[in-house]
Amino acid sequence: MELSINNVSKSYKQNKALSDFTLTFTPGVYALLGPNGSGKSTLMNIITENLKADSGIITYNGRDIKKMGAEYLYLLGYMPQYPGIYPQFTAEEYLYYIAALKGVKDPTAQITDALREVELDDVRSMRTSTFSGGMKQRLALAQAVIGDPKILLLDEPTAGLDPKQRIAVRNYISKISLDKIVIIATHVVSDIEYIAKTAIFLKKGIVADCGSPSELARKSEGKVWVIRCGTDEVTSYQNSFKVINIYSDGQDVNLRILSDTKPSDGAEPASPSLEDEYIHVFAV
Ligand SMILES: Nc1ncnc2c1ncn2[C@@H]1O[C@H](COP(=O)(O)OP(=O)(O)O)[C@@H](O)[C@H]1O
Ligand SMILES: [Mg+2]
Repeated sequence: MELSINNVSKSYKQNKALSDFTLTFTPGVYALLGPNGSGKSTLMNIITENLKADSGIITYNGRDIKKMGAEYLYLLGYMPQYPGIYPQFTAEEYLYYIAALKGVKDPTAQITDALREVELDDVRSMRTSTFSGGMKQRLALAQAVIGDPKILLLDEPTAGLDPKQRIAVRNYISKISLDKIVIIATHVVSDIEYIAKTAIFLKKGIVADCGSPSELARKSEGKVWVIRCGTDEVTSYQNSFKVINIYSDGQDVNLRILSDTKPSDGAEPASPSLEDEYIHVFAV
């Protein structure tokens, strides 16, 4: 199974949202990482045919998706960044409705399973108008999974979730991803660091980097340092270096610093994480 994106570009008037995006996806989890406005949702909307690209071609197992029509759409599960969920439906009714749209026969077992996985089984008979943002978010994930799609696209799936729910959602995504192409758009590195086989750094519509999380993290090798200093020195370090974390035990302060050269005599090299490389690339 292979989804190939070849030289796909999209502009909104003068604003180039996506430039020559080219990548072949095979089963496994892919993370599309980048700050707001980097083109993640634009790419997802193009892959799901909600938006027309200006140029480029997308193929599924070698076939142009435009020529596949509904056959392609039935392969997709999509959780949009801003899901529209009909308020008059209960959670369960909404999933039956989605199952009908996707042509799923006998959806009850799937719906029961999805509601349990996203921890909404106890509110399955409540109207979605009474749901919190996090509950709607989890229902949107459940609907994307109905029909056992081969290609699952999740746009900011953990937005609005508390830490426990984030972990539950992350584990669920990981579990269902074995025979699927899963693409997760996010700016939260920790959501995907341990579940993605490939991370794609998207910067202003351009692929700035692509590789396994550990490969990408290694690119910051030799650039991450920890320094123990007094509280009065913090500002001076911040003025001279990219300080990515400040931790105080009440006495001294520990700084985590990104720098190509050793920032001071007392600095110790630290083992880099994907987040360090993310900050390095996006300079946030
Ligand atoms: N419907 C639209 N009309 C005009 N500009 C848009 C539209 N959607 C997105 N953009 C612009 O395209 C760029 C990429 O946006 P988007 O794909 O939403 O990024 P992300 O999902 O990474 O936050 C941004 O500069 C955004 O302002
Ligand atoms: Mg977006």
